[in-house]
Amino acid sequence: MSVRAIVLAAGKGTRMKSARPKVLHELCGRPMLWYALRALREAGVESVTVVTNAEVSPHVADIAASAGHTTVGQAAAGNDAGLTGVSAVLQEPQLGTGHAVQTALAQLTPGTGTILVVNGDMPLVDADLMQAALANRAHALALVTARMPLPSAFGRVVRDGEHVARVVEARDATDDELAIDEMNAGLYVYDEAKLRAACAELGNENAQGEYYLTDTIASFAARGERIVPVVADDYRSVLGVNDRVELAAAAALLNRRVCERHMRAGVTIVDPATTYLEPDLTIAADVTILPNTTIGRATRIGAHSEIGPNARLQNARIGQHVVITDSVVADSEIGDFAYVGPWAHVRAGSLVGTGGRVGNFVEVKTSELGPGVKAGHLTYLGDAAVGDRTNIGAGTITCNYDGVVKNRTTIGKDAFIGSNSSLVAPLVVGDRALTGAGSVVIRDVAEGDRVAGNPARILPRKA
Ligand code: UD1
Ligand code: MG
Repeated sequence: MSVRAIVLAAGKGTRMKSARPKVLHELCGRPMLWYALRALREAGVESVTVVTNAEVSPHVADIAASAGHTTVGQAAAGNDAGLTGVSAVLQEPQLGTGHAVQTALAQLTPGTGTILVVNGDMPLVDADLMQAALANRAHALALVTARMPLPSAFGRVVRDGEHVARVVEARDATDDELAIDEMNAGLYVYDEAKLRAACAELGNENAQGEYYLTDTIASFAARGERIVPVVADDYRSVLGVNDRVELAAAAALLNRRVCERHMRAGVTIVDPATTYLEPDLTIAADVTILPNTTIGRATRIGAHSEIGPNARLQNARIGQHVVITDSVVADSEIGDFAYVGPWAHVRAGSLVGTGGRVGNFVEVKTSELGPGVKAGHLTYLGDAAVGDRTNIGAGTITCNYDGVVKNRTTIGKDAFIGSNSSLVAPLVVGDRALTGAGSVVIRDVAEGDRVAGNPARILPRKA
């Protein structure tokens, strides 16, 4: 469809009182701007110009890509009708939302299509609402509005009978206007040529001395153009985020929405209020999530697994029938029927094999544990490979770092590492080998050999 979008994301966000630009503040693990871009993607709008300031601009490509868009870099080369992808255009200085749209339009090759404008600070906006507005694109302007409890800092939609007459910003409104409970959401679908004409006439005689995009509404009305109000079903889907109180409120609503989607798909979430989920997770039906659990970035969880309480998963691949309790798993894979926790830390490209057991103060880093490996207590396994069914005794440490480089430890299948063994890497311990309690193992141990002591020496084989 010949729809181009402009996302307004250049504002300083002074009410956030932050060194970080507003649209880069995160909710549910994603920057605010990600949500408007994701909704556009889901609504099928592929040609997007993001109006940014100098701090936001370097992040736009990454955010757009993670929201599922292709990116086309800076808009300097023009973002022609038909050209798809997200580009950024700098608005410097920021003279208001109307000026932001003027800045974007100046970069876009003039066309005769539709321009969707959306505020970058409304992370609860969804594709359905965008599509409801786009359904009216044959008209001069579709203006998304919402009825909201008062008081509110939103711009008020002033109607003349049924017709939308203008939008007045809260700061410029009279008491009578402030009593209006229909708000301007910050999502507009314009006929491009008419938008260009209205933008060319914007002034800045108002309380903030800014060029308001919202003044285009009165100018459309004055020209007798058809303005179609699209009233959002739920005002919460258009809440804007202007300070940290609104940020927390929006994050809680977003999180609730994500939790509900998974619950409706068959996931048990014991306490959604203390379960923090990112938007793009794959969680199978009949997974149970216990309280105080945070699950992030691209994690997948197989059926019948139980996660939490007090778990944090980040970019984790979790199999079926897995238990993860009071533990952290990052950038790692946990096989079916494995049991992790309490108080385990599995990280940096590790694998816990099928039916494995890791917990009670065990850290696993860049290590591959075969099926059935057990490391139940007070252990560090770093840069190690451990063969099937091997038992790692309490207090075992792979001494992987010699002060200069990280060295690997390879332990075979069915081995038995005694409690409090120090395995000084690089080291190979063969299949079925044994280390005695308290061994400091500095030389490779052959298959089936038994070693003990400091430094560990070979014990006679049993007759
Ligand atoms: C704006 C609307 C208001 C509406 C509300 C909905 C205007 C004048 N007012 O008010 O009617 O009810 O959103 O949330 O549009 N921005 C720029 N460049 C600028 C200024 C702002 O890109 O020069 C961006 C901001 O980054 C933000 C968006 O535009 O993402 C809206 O700006 P903001 O200052 O938050 O406007 P509101 O006061 O919320
Ligand atoms: Mg705002």
